[in-house]
Amino acid sequence: MCGIVGYVGHRDVVSVLFSGLTNLEYRGYDSAGIALNDKGDIKIYKTLGKLINLKNELTERKSELIQPTSGIGHIRWATHGSPSLINAHPHTCTCGKLVVVHNGIIENYKELREELINKGCNFRSQTDTETIAHLIADEYSKTKKLEEAVRNSVKKLQGAYAICVMHKDEPDVVVGARKHAPMLVGVGEGENFIASDTPAIIEYTKKTIYLDDNEVAVITKDKIKITDINGNEVVKKVEILPWEPIALSKLGYKHFMLKEIHEQPDVIRNVLNGKLYDIDAPIALNEVKIDKDTLKKLIKIEIIACGTSLHAALVGKYIIEDFAGISVEVEASSEYIYRKTTTDSSTLVIGVSQSGETADTITAIKQAKEKNAHVLIITNRPDSNMARLADSLIPVNAGIEVSVAATKSYTAQLISFYLLAIHLAEIKGGLDKSYLKNLKHELIQLPTKIEEVLSNTSAIQECARKFSSFKNFIYIARGVNLATAFEGALKLKEISYINATGYAAGELKHGPIAMLDETMPVLSILIPGGISYEKILSNCEEAKARNAKLIALTSSTDSNLDSLFDVVLRIPPVSEILSPAITCVPLQLLAYYIAEFLGKDVDQPRNLAKSVTVE
Ligand code: AGP
Repeated sequence: MCGIVGYVGHRDVVSVLFSGLTNLEYRGYDSAGIALNDKGDIKIYKTLGKLINLKNELTERKSELIQPTSGIGHIRWATHGSPSLINAHPHTCTCGKLVVVHNGIIENYKELREELINKGCNFRSQTDTETIAHLIADEYSKTKKLEEAVRNSVKKLQGAYAICVMHKDEPDVVVGARKHAPMLVGVGEGENFIASDTPAIIEYTKKTIYLDDNEVAVITKDKIKITDINGNEVVKKVEILPWEPIALSKLGYKHFMLKEIHEQPDVIRNVLNGKLYDIDAPIALNEVKIDKDTLKKLIKIEIIACGTSLHAALVGKYIIEDFAGISVEVEASSEYIYRKTTTDSSTLVIGVSQSGETADTITAIKQAKEKNAHVLIITNRPDSNMARLADSLIPVNAGIEVSVAATKSYTAQLISFYLLAIHLAEIKGGLDKSYLKNLKHELIQLPTKIEEVLSNTSAIQECARKFSSFKNFIYIARGVNLATAFEGALKLKEISYINATGYAAGELKHGPIAMLDETMPVLSILIPGGISYEKILSNCEEAKARNAKLIALTSSTDSNLDSLFDVVLRIPPVSEILSPAITCVPLQLLAYYIAEFLGKDVDQPRNLAKSVTVE
């Protein structure tokens, strides 16, 4: 999950590469590097850590440059070899004439490396990527044509790659190739681009060509040529990006995460738009391309996802079983792919992913397709790899999410699951009509209730200040909010590096209670009027008896809670079944403010990347 950019054209190449890499920095920030073709010379600059270090380096060394006309750039999330200057991209062949940047993992790099060493290649790094540079250079020595050398080389690669390549002897040509890793071409006038993702090019062009696996793109400033791996030209569709560069701005918020948390009411309105418009009308979910009779008989659903999307999937399971009575299994994609599953042609498999790029989920989806299951993808990126694999596609329309910690895409996934669960219930016909009406009415009210939470965050900020010095947290809940406890704890871990774990409240007494004392705060989610309120209250009493500090997140107005709990965070009244769409918001804010107080890098937490394109 590195980010790559390639450019040939009339603009200042360094600025274009930096602007592209800045907008891809969510993909990794262990090191950064660029290679420039400067009047026939290849010049390489690399620094450790974030892109800002490379920008500073280039500012100091600007006088070394004459007039670069093409370049490739990279930001790294280390896989093979530690984050170090020697392992930073671009990598070169032995003579230094050929440069490569790469996103992905080459699985057969050790064998190739040995062959190339035997041929006299001089390896310097521990990366799999350097193998690609030597391999293409070896082919180039035979063909003297970069395009052909790239095609011949990628045939020998096993694994995943998106690469950009330049050669000193072919100035102003950048060649890109991909397999199992995203890559697109940005179409300009007198300039062209190659990049891992659309934010890298949006400032310059909205015209995009998405490359497919085993395709090779050759760009010059005036020409784009796309071929298959055997050199046959492929005619590709030019698509127009449906969003503006402003989506990549913080709009006055200190961090993207805070901006994205505040966007959630509108995101929910967006998801509901056109699908739930009248509480008396059935949910319009035409995206599910399965005929009604088949859906009526559907008895098994499997949902596969990772991280935050996995938590949305857990809520999805709860509500589909509750509303539609269909049995649902949820599994982490990375587990699904390594076992004998019972998926078959009668199973509906749902893949959930913000990015649509997560390698584990893509592999799981492919396996499900091999078993002839119908695959429904719920994603925020309808232009992604995963979306292309879908038999049915529900785009969640949350807009570009820049912060590495997912927030608005999570609520959008939840709302998509509510729509899907109600849609299935309406087809199955098992739910009471007035219950359904209430549910729909309340769904429409959700954005306003979240606006209420967002309009006064002082209690959450105060709580964050009070608890920011604690090293461990326990989050507890039952039922539909169990996933919220997992997600709240994950948010805190991700951006503040505090050890936080979500538990089923009833499980506390079966082990975790041993950890409780005054150093271990317990945050509980308590929604009255449902099935779990009283039971969780008892669990909180048990924790109190062990001196744990207690935080309640609740829609209850009961003033007795103020004496039992150290802090009570209140949300507007909401039914338990729909509450995960609201309870997640204060927990996102709590994690945000704790990380902020601790001075952490909220949008780009250490060791993480937004798109995990390796298994
Ligand atoms: C969310 O805050 C995390 N960055 C991470 O857990 C993420 O949800 C996970 O990697 C899955 O990504 P996806 O939704 O893009 O597939």
